[in-house]
Amino acid sequence: MITNTAPNIIFGGDYFPEQWPEETWKEDIRLMKQAKVNMVSIGIFAWALLQPDEDTFTFGWLDRIMDMLADNGIDVCLGTATAAQPNWLTQKYDDILFVRESGERVACGSRQTYCINSPSYRKAIRRLAKEMALHYKGHRALKLWHINNEYANKNSMCFCKNCEKGFQKWLKAKYKTLDNLNECWGTVYWSEKYFDWDQINTPRASAGGRNATKLLDYKRFLSESFFSLYMEERSVIREITPDIPITTNFESDWSKFDHFLFKDHLDVASLNFYPDPGNPDSYKWAALRHAMMRSLLGKPFMVMEQAPSQVDWYPVNTTKPPGVMRLWSYQALAHGSDSIMFFQWRASKKGTEKYHSGMVPHYGENSRVFKEIRALGNELKKVKNVAGTTVESKVAILLDNDSWWSVDSPYGHGTKSLDNEVFWSANSQPFPTVLVSYFSELEYYFNAFHDLNVPVDVIGIDYDFSKYKIVVAPLLHMVKPGFKESVEKFVGNGGTFITTYFTGFIDEHVGVFLGGYLGPLKDVLGVEVEEYDPLPLEGKNVIKMAAELDGFKKEYGCTVWCDVIHTTTAKTLATFGEDYYAGFPCFTENQLGSGKAYYLATRPDEEFMRAFVRKILADQGIRAPQLPEGIELVTRSKNRKNFDFYLNHGDTETEVKLAEGKHEDLLTGTIHEGTLTLARYGVSILRKTT
Ligand code: GLA
Repeated sequence: MITNTAPNIIFGGDYFPEQWPEETWKEDIRLMKQAKVNMVSIGIFAWALLQPDEDTFTFGWLDRIMDMLADNGIDVCLGTATAAQPNWLTQKYDDILFVRESGERVACGSRQTYCINSPSYRKAIRRLAKEMALHYKGHRALKLWHINNEYANKNSMCFCKNCEKGFQKWLKAKYKTLDNLNECWGTVYWSEKYFDWDQINTPRASAGGRNATKLLDYKRFLSESFFSLYMEERSVIREITPDIPITTNFESDWSKFDHFLFKDHLDVASLNFYPDPGNPDSYKWAALRHAMMRSLLGKPFMVMEQAPSQVDWYPVNTTKPPGVMRLWSYQALAHGSDSIMFFQWRASKKGTEKYHSGMVPHYGENSRVFKEIRALGNELKKVKNVAGTTVESKVAILLDNDSWWSVDSPYGHGTKSLDNEVFWSANSQPFPTVLVSYFSELEYYFNAFHDLNVPVDVIGIDYDFSKYKIVVAPLLHMVKPGFKESVEKFVGNGGTFITTYFTGFIDEHVGVFLGGYLGPLKDVLGVEVEEYDPLPLEGKNVIKMAAELDGFKKEYGCTVWCDVIHTTTAKTLATFGEDYYAGFPCFTENQLGSGKAYYLATRPDEEFMRAFVRKILADQGIRAPQLPEGIELVTRSKNRKNFDFYLNHGDTETEVKLAEGKHEDLLTGTIHEGTLTLARYGVSILRKTT
């Protein structure tokens, strides 16, 4: 259980009482009680009100609302208020604002304008965290700490002098000697050799392509800076309030820093998720983000924010039609969340985000949105036993930020516009193609399993693979020391390992593996890659099956990329049908111990993916329930007790076949046998009774 908040599923949202007169607070409490809100996150952006100048702290208003909430049985997730520093602080210290790659210091006037390595900012947050922790230690309402807010949302890259100094120090600790750094970075190229640590600047845009190892190291340095920034606050708070769990809310975009760095220092992982209601596939998008959060700590996570209806930052912000907020909330529970929380409680009257929906919209309590919120809050007591249960996945997809940053450089390889025009700028990094995208590939593999209702965890490359039967490593461009051994052990013990084109090209210092790409993974896959051929935008090749294989057709299409490969010990299951490498293998299987390793030298079409995923699931004895399009089934369980979440994301009422026996719907009490009819956007949570 995340906290002892009753009745177990946490329900509430970000609450900004400071935006409203105190008379409104009473009204808020009345409506929160109606909606069965049991936790709110407060204080998140209140720094200026809590500390109006360097030597004054003013907790009076926060004390009053904390007491009111406690008196009404509503728990508090207390924000440390550090995501938006007050103007007086910014103006007093000239190192606070971050510097863009262009060299321009950002102007104040928004949130997240701070530099993550600013000593003045770090000193100020430690002090604020200490004052808050001392002040609220032992408060009845305090159940959870929420540090900062959405790290890196706006300030993921800074190029100021403090970051430069920090980078030099970080490099010294990593490489020890300049000779070593010069060697690892390959600075012999283009006369880049460094003779003094002070000569190493931040890798800002230059006349053209830049040193790729330096770029990646800078990204790694900033990533670790985010983690150390979090630890600045966490250490202070942990010491003063050791019994209160601590979290920070992550965005659903994990490209900005390595989230796995936080894994041993979060008591609960928290997610903000904002799928686009205008996109019918948004539920797949959300399923992957939930899986990432669930897998991070391997236990129930928290949805810290979602929108009650529309947001205000997509180009067009459609509402969530009736039923969708409920459906997506249950989807989050299905995938392992123990909370349903929103941004924000009351839609703002003023300020930047006044067009963003709130649980209490501008229209007030008689609005459709509040009625749906109230109904959901009241319904949740029926599913309280779901809290603390988990999703058991036998399949894992590996996510590696170094590979991600090497494939989709945060410094830009060029981009593809909506009408498929490819842009290339003078500062883009030289690269084989802008048409590969690390995360899209990961998403492609995730969806192939998710479409068959098979749960997938998303884990780091150094996680324990032994609890999984299938491990997929899409586009694992960088292969680091130790990884080959983990894969060999996993496959040797009966696991199925899958990897794809453009994998194993570079080592941890971004040096290319010579003598055949795949480098250290050549043996486990029984394959070597000689050359690669990125396909043009509409370019295609053909996957021709080498022999009849159960469940497969004779031919499939493929796009994006073709590797020209040779097998050593692997069996060729399919070859390319076209181009000068027609007849060369593109889909191989290598037996190692009692397991198998597959290589896909291209991006196969969806039909192939379905056949392939079905085959490996069947080989590993993993169930893939057949369900109609748009129906999602996810099971949470504990001690052999299962909760089957059936979610209808489709547009029409749909009937699904149930496993044998009687199933009780937790939400309605109805017993179902044989089939279940799900209304449009309908949800059923079934527990087998016989
Ligand atoms: C993020 C932030 C919130 C709010 C919402 C709006 O999740 O954490 O403060 O700005 O976006 O969608």
